[in-house]
Amino acid sequence: MSVNKEGQIVQSPYRYGHIGDDAMSDEVDWDSLTFSLTPTDTMYITTTDIDSPWDIGELIPYGDMKMSPAAGVLNYGQGLFEGMKAYRTAEDNIVFFRPEENARRMQRGADRLKMPPVPESIFIDAVEKVVSANKKWIPPMGKGALYVRPLLFGSGPVLGVSPAPSYTFLIYVTPVGPYFKGGMSAINLLISEEYHRAAPGGSGGVKAIGNYAPGMMPSKKAKAKGYAEVIYLDAETHTFIEEVGAANFFCVKDKVLYTPELTGTILPGITRMSIIELARSRGYKVVEEKVSAEFAMAADEAFCCGTAAVISPIASITKGENTATYGDGTPQPITVELYEALTGIQNQTSEDNFSWIHPLPEGI
Ligand code: PLP
Ligand code: COI
Repeated sequence: MSVNKEGQIVQSPYRYGHIGDDAMSDEVDWDSLTFSLTPTDTMYITTTDIDSPWDIGELIPYGDMKMSPAAGVLNYGQGLFEGMKAYRTAEDNIVFFRPEENARRMQRGADRLKMPPVPESIFIDAVEKVVSANKKWIPPMGKGALYVRPLLFGSGPVLGVSPAPSYTFLIYVTPVGPYFKGGMSAINLLISEEYHRAAPGGSGGVKAIGNYAPGMMPSKKAKAKGYAEVIYLDAETHTFIEEVGAANFFCVKDKVLYTPELTGTILPGITRMSIIELARSRGYKVVEEKVSAEFAMAADEAFCCGTAAVISPIASITKGENTATYGDGTPQPITVELYEALTGIQNQTSEDNFSWIHPLPEGI
């Protein structure tokens, strides 16, 4: 890949030789996967000018990129990311979970950050192509998944605070295991009383890259005290739970599920949305409303959820001097039921009554 005079990344004429190699990689120890980066073979890239339509991109070797020092993304954080997974199923099929929702969320984010939205058809085609080219990196069922990371960013140079003249849509993939150490073992969380993730009218409701760096220091501080992550409260009243670092929050009280309503400051998680539908289909009442820390700490069960986090049971929540422990601190029954139901659909060990599964088409 190289950069033209306008500072735009230009597509490489080279195509990678191993595309379509299906044998599973022997470079990965599938039993000890964590949520970390393993470089894979191939990535997908396409670029456009601000006023031009997106073209279908191409697959190029995974590797470093050159960019103008004045790129919009480097100077003003004009960038978005997405996260989804490709699963190897019980029947050795390769499937995605609701990728159209990731495409639509990225379009909403592009609108908010004044970037040209990538058409859903190009997004899906890109996801299919890059996963197909990296099939050998998809872990065996039950050991993890291939994390698919689409990026959209202002790659052209700009000095004033305004939209970049050109944009790059790129996808790389990497095999991953559990997001939180210990997989399905329950985690201890700390409510942040000092920091907030998002404020009304800001960018909390889209997957802007700039939403994540400010969470690193609070998260590190909490981890140093032995917590897995922080829970953020709303920035206005410091009362209501918003979300958990990079995952949405649920609690269960008297067999009713509660999750914070989407007020624009919370990321509308695709896992969250799916759990709401799944739980309702299994006869549970699900309430989307403001969930106070006090209420959540008096609940019977709690969990967080996301593409990376899947469904992660919460053992305890600490706020100041108070700690609430759910049950005996082990995963509680409704959390486990929903985990089994969700992962059963993703692994195709149970029926997908919702048409959420998007199989990788043959012959891509
Ligand atoms: N909240 C934040 C801040 C996130 O980054 C994510 C991850 O994407 C989620 C929630 C969960 O969203 P999803 O279920 O779509 O992965
Ligand atoms: C995801 O769940 O895909 C996320 O984006 C979470 C995190 C890795 C940022």
